[in-house]
Amino acid sequence: MKKINWGIIGLGKMATIFAEDLIQVEASQLYAVASRNQIKADLFASNYNAKKAYSSYEKLINDPNVDVVYIATPNHAHFELTQMCLQAQKNVLCEKPMCLNLAQTQTLVKEAKLQNRFLMEAIWTRFMPTTKKLLNLLKEKRIGKLISLEADFGFQAKFDPENRLFNPELGGGALLDIGIYPVFLSLLCLGKPHKIKALARKSSTGVDSFCSMLFDYSTNEKALLQSTFEYESPTEAKIFGTKGSIKLYSRFHQSQVIEIFDQHRTSIEVLNLPYQGNGYIHEINEVNSCIEQGKTQSELLPLEFSVNLAEILEQVKKEIGLSYKHG
Ligand SMILES: NC(=O)c1ccc[n+]([C@@H]2O[C@H](COP(=O)([O-])OP(=O)(O)OC[C@H]3O[C@@H](n4cnc5c(N)ncnc54)[C@H](OP(=O)(O)O)[C@@H]3O)[C@@H](O)[C@H]2O)c1
Repeated sequence: MKKINWGIIGLGKMATIFAEDLIQVEASQLYAVASRNQIKADLFASNYNAKKAYSSYEKLINDPNVDVVYIATPNHAHFELTQMCLQAQKNVLCEKPMCLNLAQTQTLVKEAKLQNRFLMEAIWTRFMPTTKKLLNLLKEKRIGKLISLEADFGFQAKFDPENRLFNPELGGGALLDIGIYPVFLSLLCLGKPHKIKALARKSSTGVDSFCSMLFDYSTNEKALLQSTFEYESPTEAKIFGTKGSIKLYSRFHQSQVIEIFDQHRTSIEVLNLPYQGNGYIHEINEVNSCIEQGKTQSELLPLEFSVNLAEILEQVKKEIGLSYKHG
């Protein structure tokens, strides 16, 4: 069977970790890479055995042999590049967050439908063995009726106004960079909240360096979520129910261990669920499988999920007074 030809745009840290996993997957190959710098593209291509190395993103997008493009640029460029790819009839895996706001996300979903191309937000956590197990445990009601969810994501980032984490021009801020993971988990386990409260502390560049969120659901569950660039927080997730609780070990978005407790906080089971490679192989397999089957979206991470996620992030942004020039 013909291998699926991947192209990668934006050859930074994420592109490197992703390429390490991509070259291990049989069904596909790294066909082309594109950087704004030819020397960087040539080096990356030779490191990961890509056939083509382009000095512009447009050239890769217009290569007729590229089947699917992985967009690994900073957040501000996701919308425009994804739109360009879809209009050039490419399938797209776009890094998280897919866009800076809800309207952009809705526009891309429409474009993908119009062009009949595959589109997915690269939330790799969705395809981890731990996530699959967690959803099964919740479905089986192992911890009874859900009461609340707590999840945090935090690390200490050295302040640099030019860095993509702090630079508003590049779509910086803790919420969009890492807060998206606790929000993702709450949406996956509890659905859309009906009330959202949030508080933030901003860095001098105007983006959030700390964001605390409290979600309330029409069925009365609560979610307590947090993201920060200010300190190393536990980066764990805990889901509480009437019969016990489940803990996803740190860092919960790439957890390989789940622990189940009874209602007296006594541990009853520890499950080891390792991921393959750097953890992106599961996501790559899902994209390959969808493309092979001619699907335009993943059933595990459908576009409606990304729209709902963008809607929640939009409400949090409103609460904390965060907006971007590019969206
Ligand atoms: N899924 C995950 O686990 C995960 C983890 C980390 C980050 N991410 C996401 O991946 C994306 C990239 O993050 P990263 O950590 O890889 O960032 P990075 O190391 O800064 O790399 C981003 C690359 O984008 C390109 N780029 C295009 N326009 C740019 C601009 N104006 N300024 C800087 N770079 C620009 C550059 O590539 P060229 O010079 O080659 O053109 C750069 O190397 C972000 O959206 C982030 O949210 C995801």
